[in-house]
Amino acid sequence: MRLSVIGCGYLGAVHAASMAKLGHEVVGIDIDQNRIDTLSAGQAPFYEPGLPEVLNEALASGRLRFSTDMASARDADVHFLCVGTPQKAGEYAADLTYVDSAIDALIPYLGEGALVVGKSTVPVGTAARLDIAIREAQPSAMLAWNPEFLREGFAVKDTLHPDRLVYGLPVGYAHTIAKAMLDEVYAATIKDGTPVVQTDFVTAELVKVAANSFLATKISFINAMAELCEITGGDVTQLADAIGHDKRIGRRFLNAGVGFGGGCLPKDIRAFMARAAELGASEPLSFLREVDAINERRRHRMVELTIEECGGSIRGKRIAVLGAAFKPDSDDVRNSPALDIAAALQAGGATVIVTDPQALDNAARVQPTLTYAKPIYEAVLNADAVLLLTEWSEYRELDPDSLAQLVRNRCILDGRNVLDPAVWRAAGWSYRALGRASANGALSLATV
Ligand code: UDX
Repeated sequence: MRLSVIGCGYLGAVHAASMAKLGHEVVGIDIDQNRIDTLSAGQAPFYEPGLPEVLNEALASGRLRFSTDMASARDADVHFLCVGTPQKAGEYAADLTYVDSAIDALIPYLGEGALVVGKSTVPVGTAARLDIAIREAQPSAMLAWNPEFLREGFAVKDTLHPDRLVYGLPVGYAHTIAKAMLDEVYAATIKDGTPVVQTDFVTAELVKVAANSFLATKISFINAMAELCEITGGDVTQLADAIGHDKRIGRRFLNAGVGFGGGCLPKDIRAFMARAAELGASEPLSFLREVDAINERRRHRMVELTIEECGGSIRGKRIAVLGAAFKPDSDDVRNSPALDIAAALQAGGATVIVTDPQALDNAARVQPTLTYAKPIYEAVLNADAVLLLTEWSEYRELDPDSLAQLVRNRCILDGRNVLDPAVWRAAGWSYRALGRASANGALSLATV
């Protein structure tokens, strides 16, 4: 099929390359000339494992090209809308400027019977509004809503082998045609046995925000348990293992620590709350306010714990922060807990040196006043405390004895609960983590 992919950010760039890999003829369109030039040269504009390979293979096949000119979408049968919907400045609501301008720009080029497929995460009700605009301009054109669930770091795999496909389909005659066109786009994936959920626009829009709200809730739930473990002297990692064995609960997304960040979970739960409030339905989502608050509290707690470990003040202390990206295998620093904590420590008077295998350029753009060091040894040299805030595999595998040679003070704070406390303590380190007892043992509830 001939496809256009409008918006070549994290979602669109991966989608365009992956669809070309599946055999479609794809044009990726973006208003950012630099991004288009980078992608056309076979380079990924961000760090995403596997993307450069798929991109180059697709470009070499001749089935993939990129352009800033919306007119190049003219011949496509299916147009994927993959533009961003960031949080509005100073508000919780999603900013739909890019969605609206992309649709306005696309409408003049919609051919007979073209299908527009929304993939961006949007407030419920957006698809119905866009559907009217599209059909008014080109009566034979159709809209479908097909949310995307890809995770950064696994984006190519998640696109080619998703857990499920969700089709939000129009009503009437267009329903059958839109479904058939989507089935053709995803034929290879469907052949692999991927389940397809067919539904309406509203449900498809809600599925995406519901999924992200559930994941955020799961993380904040375990982080709330971590808060209780800190008060009672329990161990949140053992608690997560124990409840995770219950198949109804499951162990995934029960990793306690400094909480969730990134370009999706935080802004999506906030936009969901804002949209619900507009619809007069704040109450059913009031729990999300707590999910957000627990998540924010974990960042503050990490700062408190660092101050505690530094003897009550971080003024003049040298603190090494391992990790700047919001999660490993990504160079994305949007709403990164690690950077937020690093900035708070600096504001408290510490000298903070941040290291990350991939995200330092992005981090320096967002937090230009922090100090950055690429090699780990440079970041930890003479440190009074080392904070592990993004669980890159190289930090999980750090050797406590070698690290001890470099630091001023053997003090490690594990913000992701990925190190073995026994190993670090045996090597003479003071090991602290969120939701785990300190070495002096658990608080004895019998004495409270
Ligand atoms: C998320 C959703 O998983 C994905 O389906 C959706 O399409 C986009 O949003 P992503 O933002 O790439 O994907 O990252 P994800 O792996 O979900 O992690 C989100 C955040 O939660 C990260 O900051 C991660 O460190 C944190 N996290 C995750 C935890 O703190 N604990 C966990 O147990 C899992």
